[in-house]
Amino acid sequence: MRQPERVVVAESGAMAREAAALVDRAIRTQPDLVLALPTGNTPVGMYTELVRLHRETGTDWGGVTVFNLDEYLGVAPDHPESYAAYMQQHLYRHVNVPPSRQHIPNGLADDPDREVARYEAAIEAAGGVDLAVLGIGTNGHIGFNEPAQELIAPTHVATLTEETWQRNFPHLVEAHRADQLSARPFRQAYTMGVGSILQARHIILLASGSDKRAAIARAFQGPVTTQVPASLLQLHPRVTLVLDEAAA
Ligand code: F6R
Repeated sequence: MRQPERVVVAESGAMAREAAALVDRAIRTQPDLVLALPTGNTPVGMYTELVRLHRETGTDWGGVTVFNLDEYLGVAPDHPESYAAYMQQHLYRHVNVPPSRQHIPNGLADDPDREVARYEAAIEAAGGVDLAVLGIGTNGHIGFNEPAQELIAPTHVATLTEETWQRNFPHLVEAHRADQLSARPFRQAYTMGVGSILQARHIILLASGSDKRAAIARAFQGPVTTQVPASLLQLHPRVTLVLDEAAA
């Protein structure tokens, strides 16, 4: 079996530069690249570096298509906590991806079933994902595919676990301490499924910090199990792990 390629660097800044270099090179090699991209804390430095490379070396994003991995359900694209707003802030405002090639599930879609079908069809119409960049949850999730008895292959609506919700919304924890998860904002999200992710031709997974170390070990040194969704990446023929020493 082909082991994932591991690139271990000293710290998160080096991880960001390494990840950006891989993405930047992929765009230069294939100007009509189809990317799947993550949000969250981990890739912020990668986006900063990609923007720098665009400005200083002229990397052309004009033919690139981007699909985001996920977006919160019921959240408007201009809401500051939306992933649409995140992408504007960290990437789209600074590089020349045409708006028609910036794809993200519509948090305000009337019919979630139609929205997930639309999103899968758009990925297919683009020719599939060439390169997916992923982060990983401390519980081993990828996208919002949380540990579970069963996983859903295509894009679908997922419910965040308590752990993920608290990590993503630490500033809301106090106000919602007494509420069931089902009564809180941002508890559901559209996510590409493990099937949509595994169909990417190349996958890069980023992790930094000691709080990701256990998830990385369980994902790549343990059995393949739906209880650690990232472990399904062991089934993919081309995965590159870009880790800092604390996560490795
Ligand atoms: C975000 C996503 C998530 C994050 C993961 C890690 O688009 O798909 O799987 O990658 O929750 O988040 P951070 O990087 O904030 O630790």
